[in-house]
Amino acid sequence: MRVAKKIAFGIDIGGSGIKGAPVDLSTGEFVADRVRIPTPENSTPTAVAEVITELVGSFDLPKKVPIGVALPAPIDYGIVRSMANLDKSWTGVDLPALLHGATGRPATAVNDADAAGLGEQRYGAAGGRNGVVLVTTLGTGIGSALIVDGRLVPNTELGHLEIDGYDAETRAADSAREREDLTYEQWAERLQRYYSVVENLLSPDLIVVGGGVSKKHERFLPLLNLRTPIVAAQLRNTAGIVGAAAMAADDAKADKPIRRAVESAPMSFTADAKYPLSGK
Ligand code: BGC
Repeated sequence: MRVAKKIAFGIDIGGSGIKGAPVDLSTGEFVADRVRIPTPENSTPTAVAEVITELVGSFDLPKKVPIGVALPAPIDYGIVRSMANLDKSWTGVDLPALLHGATGRPATAVNDADAAGLGEQRYGAAGGRNGVVLVTTLGTGIGSALIVDGRLVPNTELGHLEIDGYDAETRAADSAREREDLTYEQWAERLQRYYSVVENLLSPDLIVVGGGVSKKHERFLPLLNLRTPIVAAQLRNTAGIVGAAAMAADDAKADKPIRRAVESAPMSFTADAKYPLSGK
């Protein structure tokens, strides 16, 4: 007997590309090859929603398959609270409502690092770990997901800690390494400072490092001297897609979905908080 796979569609919105794939929720693996479409230069919510509609439409998926979208921003119950690295007009947008309107599917929105954290927790390097696990992503910004005994504490935004007078991600994200043409040794000094502060604040049991550069983890992780074990993400750059799909599936079956805002009216929520240090 053939048993139908349980799937959800995961999408990761990044600064340069919007990537999506249907995910088998029992294994965390892609059911079909991932599709990537470049992020529109003018990365407004409407332009991105059009790309997502095209992306989802390029797969032949039953109408009830939910979509989960990871965005590089804090998201409170579907509402984008602020935006550091895409168009500023994202602030205040109800992303699940926008995507439900555009695609007709149940839609869930989640911070990109939280999605990656959930992906690693369910299917990757943090699998089955209890205690305090911190998943960080090093890319255009620094993303963070804090998972305590398997439960996500959403929107921690630890990339924006102020360290030595700087918004930390402007010094220690992978984009800073590229922009300033740092060697891995020079960059590791900045990571050392960053992770030392974070480990002193949170005393995690495990730190997982994701983002595209985690492919090269052997060039910088061994240079770090921390109390906490620090390992590379197992799902590498697919963790965001996988975690967003998993969260969409959770929300789709929950009586009271926590991050989905589809049929019901969006919760009233004022979303005008800004990071004083993002300065962009
Ligand atoms: C954003 C976070 C995001 C991180 C990684 C930061 O600039 O504020 O929400 O998770 O970048 O993309």
